[in-house]
Amino acid sequence: MHTENDAGGHAGTEAWAGAVEKALDLHRGEPGPLLAVLHDIQDAIGWIPTESHARLAEALSLSKADVYGVVTFYHDFRSSPPGRHVLKLCRAEACQSMGAEALAKRLTAKLGVEFGLTSADGAVTLQPVYCLGNCACSPALMIDGNLIGRVTPERLDRIVADARAAR
Ligand code: FES
Repeated sequence: MHTENDAGGHAGTEAWAGAVEKALDLHRGEPGPLLAVLHDIQDAIGWIPTESHARLAEALSLSKADVYGVVTFYHDFRSSPPGRHVLKLCRAEACQSMGAEALAKRLTAKLGVEFGLTSADGAVTLQPVYCLGNCACSPALMIDGNLIGRVTPERLDRIVADARAAR
């Protein structure tokens, strides 16, 4: 399982440092560019290494606590590398009223991790999302960008099994 403590690791420093500098360059001079910079970094490498916070803070005249606060406030930002597949389960009201909480429990039990983390086999990163715009077909989830509605427990099991089987 990936945890916050896995974030970064000096072995991969060059790989993420390039993405960080590129994102900073792209938004240089813009007012309040932290969110845009973070999105660019995550788009490029899939996560925001904790080790990058100091460089971001320095470049954007912020404190490391400011950067950490923003990264951890938004559910979309990951502080550890994602699994091979990213599954976002909708936990907003319409989906909740159609059984999303039971699906959430099933998922965490099946994957052996809480929301925000990646299963030990590296197959699935589980994330909460608050409305996918698919309320009419709730409960809904998104896997690797594909929206799926009317998710039943059986369908959910199949989705997880397929994700684990796929590379
Ligand atoms: S509440 Fe789940 S898709 Fe809108």
